[in-house]
Amino acid sequence: MHFMWKLLVVLFGLAIGIQAEMRKPVTETCLYCICEALNGCNATAVCVNGACGIFRITWDQWVDCGRLTIPGDSPLSDDAFTNCANDPICAADTLQSYMAKFGQDCNDDDQEDCYDYGAIHYMGPWNCKEDRPFYYESTFTRCVRNAVQQEEERQKSN
Ligand SMILES: *[C@@H]1O[C@H](CO)[C@@H](O)[C@H](O)[C@H]1NC(C)=O
Repeated sequence: MHFMWKLLVVLFGLAIGIQAEMRKPVTETCLYCICEALNGCNATAVCVNGACGIFRITWDQWVDCGRLTIPGDSPLSDDAFTNCANDPICAADTLQSYMAKFGQDCNDDDQEDCYDYGAIHYMGPWNCKEDRPFYYESTFTRCVRNAVQQEEERQKSN
């Protein structure tokens, strides 16, 4: 009995450890292109129709990701959501955790990548196959293509 109890404690600790090591599927470039398409990566603290910060994180997204907070905030405090969404690091971690949870192949090209994350963030995981507004989609796609091209040129010149 005593042994079982210890085993349980160890397994529980392991589970927490695994959870704490967050998967980060979204590249820096992809994060940049998402905010570029949303608002030109304007980091001024602001909420537009309930979506806040550089990545226009919504309350639902934030809750789905386990209410990440800036250091010193309680997840249950009134300001925790806006403080996190308006903090580029907390907001980026929220987006990472959102894609770790809801990432999928939206455009049927047999891979899960930045194009899918851009769609999932704007449309939500259940509507990510649907068309995005023209401005968002064209800005985002151009940004990702440019980044890929720049990366290729950089590798050629090395
Ligand atoms: C950033 O957003 C704020 C608030 O909406 C706005 O006042 C400011 O002009 C914007 N800055 C740029 C560089 O667009």
